[in-house]
Parts: sequence; structure tokens; C-alpha cells
Amino acid sequence: MSHNILLTGVSGYLGGTILARIGAANLPPYDKLYALVRTDEQAAAVKQYSVEPLAFNIQDEAAVRDAVLNYGISVVFYLVDPFYSTPQVHFIKALTEIKKNTGRDVHFLHTSGAKIFSNHAGAPIDKPLLDNDPQLYDIQKSQKAPIGFMQNPVETNNIVIEEAERHGVRSYIFVPCIVYGKGEGFGNPISNQTVAIVRAAKAMKRVYDVNAGVSTWPVCHVIDNTTLYIELLRKILLGDNPGYGKNGYYLASPGSVSWQDLYAAMAASLAKRNIIEDDSVVTPSDEKIEEMAKALKRPQQFSPNEWVEMLIGGKCTFTARRGYELGWKPQYAPTHILEDADTEVELILQHLKD
Ligand SMILES: NC(=O)c1ccc[n+]([C@@H]2O[C@H](COP(=O)([O-])OP(=O)(O)OC[C@H]3O[C@@H](n4cnc5c(N)ncnc54)[C@H](OP(=O)(O)O)[C@@H]3O)[C@@H](O)[C@H]2O)c1
Repeated sequence: MSHNILLTGVSGYLGGTILARIGAANLPPYDKLYALVRTDEQAAAVKQYSVEPLAFNIQDEAAVRDAVLNYGISVVFYLVDPFYSTPQVHFIKALTEIKKNTGRDVHFLHTSGAKIFSNHAGAPIDKPLLDNDPQLYDIQKSQKAPIGFMQNPVETNNIVIEEAERHGVRSYIFVPCIVYGKGEGFGNPISNQTVAIVRAAKAMKRVYDVNAGVSTWPVCHVIDNTTLYIELLRKILLGDNPGYGKNGYYLASPGSVSWQDLYAAMAASLAKRNIIEDDSVVTPSDEKIEEMAKALKRPQQFSPNEWVEMLIGGKCTFTARRGYELGWKPQYAPTHILEDADTEVELILQHLKD
């Protein structure tokens, strides 16, 4: 029995790139591919990929249930928001009805983020944290985020796994990191990660190092990130039983770079374009941190330090294993983000709206 798939976030950077690549991915047969949209323009755009648009409110349990049951959706890729779990639980509950009605396996993929496996969310950072560590669910359960608000996305990962297990749905926690490179979708072409470095530098006329010491973070080109989503979908469609639930964390990353190397590479490019005057990277004073937090539109629930460090700093030792087990082969080495920093800065400056 073949699957009907729902892709969300298709006007975004990551979801848009999946939509752009899925047609040529030579996937095993499936029945229909639907894309969640919110505007008529988005509906028209997705039709150009021969994908059927669906518009419904993901916060509304009845609307989610109707969509999933009416269109017989058995695979959902969720790329909307890692912080809150309400829509995900609506999808999981609806998928369980499909399972009951048809007897087929049903699948829910939640997109999380590397921050949720970093110091910002209380994850261990003293050694590599492997995405196929059998204890990872227990580790996430015991995390106490030092930045209070960051407990939300940790809980969201746990809730997705627990609710899916309770309802007999196969769940996957997909973890993008610092994703870079030009998005190929019809909507947002730039990553929200590297953008923050440029936005802060533009406002401050300088690049600041907000870390206490050398700090590393996993990185991934957007095409490699997309390939892992697609390889996971391929295994699901083949019925190959890819790891799920408590064994279903997938980090898309070929490895890490230090923030210091990333700042330096981007500062060189920003200085070349006269966005900043001096390409040396320095430690900010408390006043400068406040100014940066303002430029980065700090929400009230974060202190200036927390917000700035969370957007453009921190330590994350999360390390990909599970994708490789699926046969995923990233094209770009982690250092490519440094070699390509000039292109990334140019792309961001072209598309930065404010
Ligand atoms: N980019 C990265 O490097 C990165 C790293 C780690 C984690 N992530 C996570 O990955 C996910 C996708 O990231 P992205 O970079 O592709 O983000 P993005 O470019 O901002 O796209 C977000 C997508 O979600 C949709 N969306 C937002 N609220 C919605 C709602 N209430 N109902 C339906 N759709 C809604 C947006 O639709 P509209 O266009 O209609 O607003 C858009 O399609 C996000 O959860 C993000 O936090 C991204």
C-alpha cells in the first residue's frame, strides 16, 4: 500500500529546498505528495512542482484530523517550529486513525535543531554526543536548560517521541544545525543561522566573539541537509524500518567548525564589502551585547546575553551517525562553510529584508 505524504514549511528555507529536490530524487513509488500552504501565492507556487497544496490551520485539532483523514496522509514531514508541540500532537493523533483504518505504518517527522542538543539547552558538551546514542532520549529527558525558554523545544522532542509511541506512530527527530548555502525553494532562500551573524555585524559595524573560549558547532550545506530528509523518506517509502522513536534522532551534519573560524571568515567578507570597518573579531562589552541583542530583536523572555549567545554562539558536540547508517553521503566537508563564507555573505546581503 503506497503512502500519501504531507510536506510542511515549503515556503521556507529547508522545506522549500526539499520541495525543489524531491521530484528528481527518484523516490520509490508513493501515491500523492501534498504541501501545506498558507496563501494563494504559495498554493500556486507548489502546483508548479506538481504537488497538491492543502491549506488548514495546524493549531486546530479538528482541521488537522480532517486533512489527514480526508487525504489519507500517512507520512508527515513537519518543518515549522521546534519550540511548541501542539500541532505535532494533533498530527500524531490523526495519523493513528489512519493506522487503525488502514493497518499501515504511519510516520511523523519533527524538525528540531542543534541548539536543543547544545549547552543552551543543558545538553552534555564534554564529549561527542552521538545521534545514535541509545541513551539519547534519557539524556534529553534529564536536560535542564540554563536558558529557561530553551526547555520548551527539549520538551517538544520528548513529547513527540512519547505521544507517537503511545499512539503507535513512528516518529523521527530531524536535527538541522548551522545550515548554509542558497535555498532552492520558491520562498525564503537564506538560513536563519548565518543571517544572525551578518545582521549583528551590520548593526555593530564589527564582528564580536560572544563565546568564553573556543566553541564548536555542527554545520551542513543546505543540499546535504535536504539529502538526509530525502534519504529518510526513501527508507520510509521502501518500508526499510529506519530507526524511529527513542532511536530516531537524525543530525544532518558532516562535522563541526569553531565559531571563531566562522566569524573570521564572515568578517573578512563583510570588511571587503565595507559593511564593517575592521575585520578583526573582538570580545564585546556588556553595552555592546545589549546593542547586539537589540539588533537581533531580542524577545523579552531572554536576557541580552542569553539571546546573543544563543543566536551566534555556544557549544554543541552533537555528532551525526544515524544518517550515515542510512547511506547518506554529504557532498561538502565542514570547512566548506569557511571557504564559501564570501558567497554566503553576498547571498544574505542580497536577501536581508531589515
Ligand atoms: N535554517 C536552519 O539552519 C535551521 C537550523 C535548525 C533548525 N531549523 C528549524 O527548521 C525548521 C525550518 O527552518 P527554515 O530555515 O526552513 O525556516 P523558515 O525559512 O523560516 O520557514 C518556516 C516555514 O514554516 C512555515 N510556518 C510558520 N508558521 C506556520 C504555521 N503556523 N502554520 C503553517 N506553516 C507555518 C512558514 O510559512 P510562511 O512562509 O507562510 O510563514 C515557512 O514555510 C524551523 O522549525 C527551524 O526552527 C532551521
